[in-house]
Amino acid sequence: MSHSSALDPADPVLHLAEHVEDFYACYGSGAAPRTFFSPGRVNLFGGHLDYNGGPVMPTAIDRGTFLAVRERDDRRIFIASTLDPNGIEFDLDEAPTTRLGRWVDYPLGVLVDALVRCRAAGTDGQLPGLEILCGGNLPVGAGLSSSASICVGTALLLDEAWNLSLDVMERVRTALRAERGFVGVQCGIMDPFAVGLARRGHLLWLDCKDESWEHVPLDFSRVSIAVANSGVSRQLAAGEFNRRVDQCRMAFEALQPYAPGASCMRDIPLEVFEAHESELDPDCAARARHVLHEVGRTFAAREALFAGRMEELGGAMTRTHESLRDYYACSTPELDLLVTAALDAGALGSRLTGAGFGGCTVMLLNKGSEDVVLSELQERFEQVYGRVPEVEVFSGDEGPREIML
Ligand code: GLA
Repeated sequence: MSHSSALDPADPVLHLAEHVEDFYACYGSGAAPRTFFSPGRVNLFGGHLDYNGGPVMPTAIDRGTFLAVRERDDRRIFIASTLDPNGIEFDLDEAPTTRLGRWVDYPLGVLVDALVRCRAAGTDGQLPGLEILCGGNLPVGAGLSSSASICVGTALLLDEAWNLSLDVMERVRTALRAERGFVGVQCGIMDPFAVGLARRGHLLWLDCKDESWEHVPLDFSRVSIAVANSGVSRQLAAGEFNRRVDQCRMAFEALQPYAPGASCMRDIPLEVFEAHESELDPDCAARARHVLHEVGRTFAAREALFAGRMEELGGAMTRTHESLRDYYACSTPELDLLVTAALDAGALGSRLTGAGFGGCTVMLLNKGSEDVVLSELQERFEQVYGRVPEVEVFSGDEGPREIML
């Protein structure tokens, strides 16, 4: 949104007031819309583990998606965005069944999923048309999960506007089905869980094998979480991401005969991998090496977090980055520089976040050191690349919610 920079970026209420003005400009005045905020997420521990059945520890952040909705007295659906003029309009009885190949696929996929379920239950005939306006203050394609943010937020919006009586897990699963089935990205479960189950002041410990989870407190009076955007958009990310998923599957299939009972890569014992590494394609072996070490690192990080050992926690993040760079081949020179510069300036730890291939790094900082670390980091990056990277300090967030203005 062009005018959002003048606002406190951390206060969704201020943004939503502007969003309502944008809503009237888009759909005309009349009844006030209902308004919702859905956060983005940053992943601190467990890089590329979710689709390998491993544990992850992300947290929601106080930047995300703004949504406004108003009921119509006919059966037409309108979905528009303040960030992109290409919206969509259709009748509920003629909803698209396949993706269009643009941003609107995310909320549309969620709506189509909800519609299919209402059809199966015989309740779709009673659904009213809706005017929906999306917007947000998350950089898109930067690894902060703008996609899960909009999908889980749309699931909540539809739940409320159509009285679907979904619980939080059903909203998370609706978002996941939309992203995998309708949009067509083979994403793991981490992002919609991180957004949907967020609790302020906590990381989400999520075991992606059995989908068990719990909230683990992070002492925000001692540390801050900051992000630096490399400014390199992840153009190749979808293709490269799906390739990593395939390489892990191939490595697992080759190793599984030596580890009876293993149902995902996370279950392969390290000794089994080391004994049979040479039988694998070298790229697949490197991906597997990252995954198996990352599982151990993530369990160790959880222990360090419970014990309040922040330096160890930061160290685990940095080891993760090195492994993603060397074995997972999903870093870039810009991301590597952001990590090195942050560490040299005093960060406790830093790593690329999200899928990598561009986007952002995340840093764990001692409380009070933010200004010094971030300005040194910007200076160093500018010396090499001739431009100043955007940096932000985030607070945690409590998850998708309706906000009454
Ligand atoms: C992307 C995916 C997630 C996860 C991360 C890597 O963000 O959407 O499911 O696999 O990459 O940790």
